[in-house]
Amino acid sequence: MRFLRVSFLYSALLAATFLSTAREFTVQDEGGFVSVGDSDDLLFNVQSAETGRYSTSTLLGGESLHLNHISSTNDFVTVSSARFPNHNVRIKKTDFCDPTVNVYTGYLDVDAGAKHMFFYFFESRRNPAEDDVMMWINGGPGCSSAMGLLMELGPCSIDMENQSPNGTIYNPYSWNEVANIFFLDQPVGVGFSYADFGETVETTEEAAKNVHAFISIFFEVFKQFKGRPLHLSGESYGGRYLPIFASEIHDENAIAVKEGRPTINLQSVIIGNGITDISTLYAGRFEIECGVSALEKPFQSIKACVRMKMALPRCQQMMQDNCIDSFDSIDCQATVNFCDNELSTNMWASGRNVYDISKPCVGDLCYLENTAIMDYMNLNTTRKLLGAETPGEFSSCSSAVSAGFAAHMDKWRSPTQDYVAQLLERGIRVLIYAGTYDWQCNWVANKLWLEKLEWSGKQDYNLAQLSDWTVDGIKAGEVKHAGLLSFATIRGAGHMMSLRDFDDIEQEPDGIRSFVFRSLMINRKRHSLCWRTGWPISHCDLMGDVPDQILRQENMEHRGITIGPSSQPLLNLFPTQAWACPVIVLP
Ligand SMILES: *[C@@H]1O[C@H](CO)[C@@H](O)[C@H](O)[C@H]1NC(C)=O
Ligand SMILES: *[C@@H]1O[C@H](CO)[C@@H](O)[C@H](O)[C@H]1NC(C)=O
Repeated sequence: MRFLRVSFLYSALLAATFLSTAREFTVQDEGGFVSVGDSDDLLFNVQSAETGRYSTSTLLGGESLHLNHISSTNDFVTVSSARFPNHNVRIKKTDFCDPTVNVYTGYLDVDAGAKHMFFYFFESRRNPAEDDVMMWINGGPGCSSAMGLLMELGPCSIDMENQSPNGTIYNPYSWNEVANIFFLDQPVGVGFSYADFGETVETTEEAAKNVHAFISIFFEVFKQFKGRPLHLSGESYGGRYLPIFASEIHDENAIAVKEGRPTINLQSVIIGNGITDISTLYAGRFEIECGVSALEKPFQSIKACVRMKMALPRCQQMMQDNCIDSFDSIDCQATVNFCDNELSTNMWASGRNVYDISKPCVGDLCYLENTAIMDYMNLNTTRKLLGAETPGEFSSCSSAVSAGFAAHMDKWRSPTQDYVAQLLERGIRVLIYAGTYDWQCNWVANKLWLEKLEWSGKQDYNLAQLSDWTVDGIKAGEVKHAGLLSFATIRGAGHMMSLRDFDDIEQEPDGIRSFVFRSLMINRKRHSLCWRTGWPISHCDLMGDVPDQILRQENMEHRGITIGPSSQPLLNLFPTQAWACPVIVLP
């Protein structure tokens, strides 16, 4: 799988590029790794697959490597920094996914080169030289960010209908419409990230170190992004990951300041359908199944709901005693088993998609896209395109990684919400959003924990009212803000969702400079795209000028909803079936 097939011609070209474009570059041809005198120096190593030799270039202190200097789609350029002697970045250009911008893929080799973290980087479609930088990660634990990339917010979507010669379809609503974004497969063992000697990462705190290293080196090496606002986004288990990753970055920044090193301009944390505070999870699930928080009527049987209601207080109490007040792994595990048994079994038995209760559970992880993504990623052509050197097959979600985290009870062990509170107190903005049709990490659980959250803005937050946010006059969800904390629901959307279209941002109410929520439901562009590709409406989660007749059929077929006079309000949901847009406003 290795294809570091560099000829010396290439390195010569590389050297020539540096020399011709910038007088500040000093290039030393060949000679293996050079020693670095100044701690600001960067090394470039271009390895020849034919000869195995490296040619090395050095950027002298303070000079920057611009991504534009990386022009090969075949070979990785290796960049190392004396500040992170145990880490290298290997990066190459690629024609993957978005032909309208520069796209790069590569590995960050961390921990003395034994762990390799794979990333995809897309320049912003708007103004890469000015736009913010974003990171997206999927949850699991163990799921590849390729899922979010190819199913939700990335520059292209997996082609489900064999329409595209290249396996993907351009997504005009990708987040890189306005941001430079990288998708990171983390921890090792996820997606194309791997370890040489079977090392694993099994806790979020441990994962945070590698993520911090990755981000530091990214900003260190590509100085064009130096000081640029950074936003950490993700979903699901990201509700646990991101607050801890952000805290690691914040705390490391403090150390960097002391040591006179550059800091990372972390601005916000954005979590979609996350799991953060475990104490409200089951109460929320009960509401989704047996209340009217998601659908107009509960869908679970009365018998099941009554039994669940009886079990809920006991589950909550046990959780408080065994997992929260003091953590005991055996008792906490027994609690989780009890809660799952009593409160989750009926949902799994219902055949509904646990990530979108309005849909049936079809396919791997309830989405046919997951298998399609896996097949696509495992094509030799795709691997070559990406430069994937990972020994094993790609899987959307790694059961080994998830088992590792489960063995440490990572989800239950530490109060992640306290990290959120600490971040808020230190000026980091937090957006928690959730689609209302998700059961797994549902919106009610998120609403409840935000109300409990102990921070200086607690009172303001709880006094603030949820208000509707609309698109073209149609309710798209609810939203509220207090200080730096925002909470939004997206009506009728599931766990996986797209957040799209950043054009024509509406005027925001005063004081809410950070996030603007908008849907694009009645978006003819998007709609026509869907319709032309022949995707069912439920796939596109959208409608517009689709003939009413077809719409109704699609709705019935894909959502298992009977159309009748009383279901009119439900139909009205569909136009808002979609997306919130956290638009990042530069300070
Ligand atoms: C893949 O093909 C589709 C359909 O022809 C096209 O729109 C898209 O830009 C292509 N993607 C890449 C990365 O070339
Ligand atoms: C893909 O590449 C591997 C390794 O080079 C090779 O063994 C395999 O036969 C290839 N598969 C296809 C379908 O070409």
